[in-house]
Amino acid sequence: MIRTGVVGAMGKMGQEVVKTVISDPELELVCAVDKFETGKNVYGNVNIESDILKAIEINKPDVVVDFTQPSVIFENAKIYLKNKVKTVIGTTGLSSDQISELKELSKKYDTGCLIAPNFALGAVLMMMFSKMAAKYFNNAEIIELHHNQKKDAPSGTAIKTAEMMAEINPDFKQKNAPETEIIKGARGAEYNNTKNEGKINIHSIRMPGFIASQEVIFGANGQTLTIRHDTQNRECFMSGVTLGIKHVYKNNDFIFGLENIL
Ligand SMILES: NC(=O)c1ccc[n+]([C@@H]2O[C@H](COP(=O)([O-])OP(=O)(O)OC[C@H]3O[C@@H](n4cnc5c(N)ncnc54)[C@H](O)[C@@H]3O)[C@@H](O)[C@H]2O)c1
Repeated sequence: MIRTGVVGAMGKMGQEVVKTVISDPELELVCAVDKFETGKNVYGNVNIESDILKAIEINKPDVVVDFTQPSVIFENAKIYLKNKVKTVIGTTGLSSDQISELKELSKKYDTGCLIAPNFALGAVLMMMFSKMAAKYFNNAEIIELHHNQKKDAPSGTAIKTAEMMAEINPDFKQKNAPETEIIKGARGAEYNNTKNEGKINIHSIRMPGFIASQEVIFGANGQTLTIRHDTQNRECFMSGVTLGIKHVYKNNDFIFGLENIL
């Protein structure tokens, strides 16, 4: 049994992860941490704890899964890795510098760490297909659509998609006319990975009715190609989370993106 802890256990994703861990015969829920409903016995014999470090020291999880929020994830992740607890991070909002720092910590403490901006198989395929298409188009823009409680923009999935596309094609947005934004922000955010000149515009939509969707639109003379993924419920992330837990349990490598372990 893999001793598993869930941080952010009372959140929308955390509750789903807890259900998944409890129902998987290879996983055992040993601790649940959240800032909300602390002390309550919400999940069988596991109480909600508020202190991550204490929860780790007392319950000795093999793997911790974190679905908290962008403002705390970097500090949380450092606690896991410095205490040699294998780590699965679903929380978005980490900067590329922070991801590089966590990679170094994972190496230094010889502790497996998976960061996945999206655990849904369909979304990962959408990113991979976008990377394939990026080789053949020089114009592309990303529209990501999420529920209105999401704290970060653009989404981690959109940034990772742009990064994968820019890896294969450094020439996006060539030959566009010079632009003037009459209303600031009209053209969205410009992703540019500084290694090249190419830019990919990302547009973020926030409203009730969506969980997580993304559209990548490619354009060339006389044609457009749209690659779209829609999340209907949060269960769709769970097979990826389980795969991630089982992977880091057996491996001490650092991985950014679920596509690297599929
Ligand atoms: N990787 C993926 O596939 C994926 C999918 C959906 C959401 N997400 C990301 O997961 C994160 C959580 O999303 P959500 O919709 O469940 O949010 P949520 O707001 O519903 O839940 C977050 C929970 O974390 C708790 N929390 C905040 N700070 C904490 C701390 N320091 N210690 C312990 N608990 C803390 C909050 O009390 C809350 O219960 C977001 O960053 C979101 O973008 C990722």
